[in-house]
Amino acid sequence: MRPLIAGNWKMHGSLLDSAALAEAVSAGAATAGPAAELLVCPPFPYIQPTAAALLGKGVAVGGQDCHAAAKGAHTGDVAAVMLRDVGATHVILGHSERRADHGETDAAVRAKAEAALAAGLTPIVCVGESEAQRLAGKAEAVVTGQLDGSLPEGFAAAGGVVAYEPVWAIGTGRTPTEAEIAAIHAAIRANLTAQFGAPGGGLRILYGGSVKPGNAKAILALPHVDGALVGGASLVAADFLAIAAAA
Ligand code: G3P
Repeated sequence: MRPLIAGNWKMHGSLLDSAALAEAVSAGAATAGPAAELLVCPPFPYIQPTAAALLGKGVAVGGQDCHAAAKGAHTGDVAAVMLRDVGATHVILGHSERRADHGETDAAVRAKAEAALAAGLTPIVCVGESEAQRLAGKAEAVVTGQLDGSLPEGFAAAGGVVAYEPVWAIGTGRTPTEAEIAAIHAAIRANLTAQFGAPGGGLRILYGGSVKPGNAKAILALPHVDGALVGGASLVAADFLAIAAAA
């Protein structure tokens, strides 16, 4: 399947920065014509201008979260339909920073994923163990438990995406070994097939956590690694494009 290289810009940059980054990514994508599908996920206020700038340029735009409701009295929140309305096609859900900062549970992530599907967005549901959980030998159990709790019915039919991001590898420069990544991705694939049958075999599983141009090729070559969710390196167009070129 065609790999997906997604950039999670998190809460970084300004309006001008996001415009320059989008421009550089689309220019590079046009020249290099990478085999990978590209997606960038700016902070909420920059989604609309980024989507407008990237329209027709082969780089999709996504949100970093959405509310579970389609509308209502939810001050400060953003509905999936609103993301869709301003040009987003994807939404990252259940990122470990949201699970930690906002206490998002698997059930909350699942409800958000349902809202995303209802709005016609592709959910990218994040799972991943903490360092303590890995040291305790519980990484696989934690990740499959999160999948069981976070993925709604209809996820596979809509081509939902799973991102495996070990919490301790995010922004730290540390990554699991290739064997450890391959083992968890195989477990995720088995879980998706158990939950959804054959369609689960065709869903993309991204790896995220300190993906850089220097390690992207090796990670992206592993079985059941169908792309990457990139944080820090997605803020530098050349690095993001180099990761895409490695796919
Ligand atoms: O969602 C991507 C992210 O959490 C990984 O961040 O900076 O380690 O690539 P980073």
